Amino acid sequence: MESFLIKGGRPLRGEVTISGSKNAALPIMAATLLTDEPCVIRGVPNLSDTRFMAQILKSLGAETEFKKGTLETRAKKIQGYADYDLVRKMRGSICVAGPLLARLRKARISLPGGCVIGARPINLHLKGFESLGAHIEIVGGYVHASAKRLIGATTFLGGRAGSTVLGTANVMMAGALADGVTVIESAACEPEVVDLANFLTAMGAKIAGAGGPTITVTGVKKLHGAEHWIIPDRIEAATFAIAAAATDGEVTIKNCRSEHLRAVLDKLNEAGVSIQSREGNLVVRRGKKLSTADVTTLPYSGFPTDVQAQMMSLLTLAPGISIITERIFESRFMHVSELTRLGADIEIEGPSAIVKGGRPLSGAPVMASDLRASAALVIAGLAAKGETQVNRIYHLDRGYERMDLKLRKLGARIQRVEEK
Ligand code: EPU
Repeated sequence: MESFLIKGGRPLRGEVTISGSKNAALPIMAATLLTDEPCVIRGVPNLSDTRFMAQILKSLGAETEFKKGTLETRAKKIQGYADYDLVRKMRGSICVAGPLLARLRKARISLPGGCVIGARPINLHLKGFESLGAHIEIVGGYVHASAKRLIGATTFLGGRAGSTVLGTANVMMAGALADGVTVIESAACEPEVVDLANFLTAMGAKIAGAGGPTITVTGVKKLHGAEHWIIPDRIEAATFAIAAAATDGEVTIKNCRSEHLRAVLDKLNEAGVSIQSREGNLVVRRGKKLSTADVTTLPYSGFPTDVQAQMMSLLTLAPGISIITERIFESRFMHVSELTRLGADIEIEGPSAIVKGGRPLSGAPVMASDLRASAALVIAGLAAKGETQVNRIYHLDRGYERMDLKLRKLGARIQRVEEK
């Protein structure tokens, strides 16, 4: 297993180019199963998750080639069975369910199970499929979904923590080939849902309202092949912005869309970070002393849960008390005990973490537990004095393209080493 060895205390300076969005790429890759014609997806980040999704498409029968950020795929003839070994490795693989059900009228997919950040049920995905007339059975840990016909209907996808991103994607994809009109109420509004809707539209789907809480999908008989560019990864952009601020550096972030980052930029501003827009890029720098900020994660356009851990690392450096409340996933605080090993003072109280910031961080060996927790530990390691070893960085490689190389270009002293 590999680790990052970080010698902290050096400000990040320079330019970084953001890769395509992982969470937009995964459902868009799945959507290519909706047609028997060739599709070309560009700007796909080279990550273990996207390589894995390409493998899933192959296992379902598609011919795929994934090279230099471009996925060429053709799902001429496919089968509808996704094995436990495939689905358990990446929860995002559940988004093949909608396309398989739409195209084959049946899908047999292993239930993904929980993961370290929370229970992660798929009841809302199944509710959506059922409202389109699918029959759902759970047998031996697998979801069997089948339908003679999918018939458009109105479905409400609001849950305990708001809507569901991949559930919205799944129902939108199933509705694209259903008879009649599907209305998704309380749909997820994330930019990744809009990117998927744009790709489906390029394939010939009829979709209105994506990006808002009501999405209307008018089913068509057939979808055709299409080409698409994936949007920039807003979570990667936020991660680099926070790393720049945490190291007291100045970084120009290229290929990012500030309109997708409003909540994060607003909180960074509140925390004393200066952000300027220059020629379509963002220039991030710690303007003055860091201030405390209270952060609550919410569905888009609120503060993203996928940036909560990184923001916590930053706020450990702001003198005073910041309260971070996690409203999307119930156990997404695995990074807290590791940040404490670096000298941070954080207490968990129910869904909130109370960060008593301002103590200097000092390097230590730490263990990454999930993708975004890993990014938080890297940021803390870059800001800490001394050497930090972040173990189990395979989590990080799931969602950040060449993060160590990008950080080195910004002046960070970070090496990928074999875990001792
Ligand atoms: N939920 C339900 N029932 C469902 C589905 C979800 O109760 O059927 C609950 C979840 O337990 C959670 C909330 O709804 O409390 C939101 O979950 P959502 O379904 O929106 O999550 P997801 O679609 O499975 C995507 C991203 C996650 C990101 C979340 C929230 C992908 C591949 N994954 O997951 O990304 O955290 O949306 O924004 O798009 C990451 O990249 O690190 C990551 C975990």
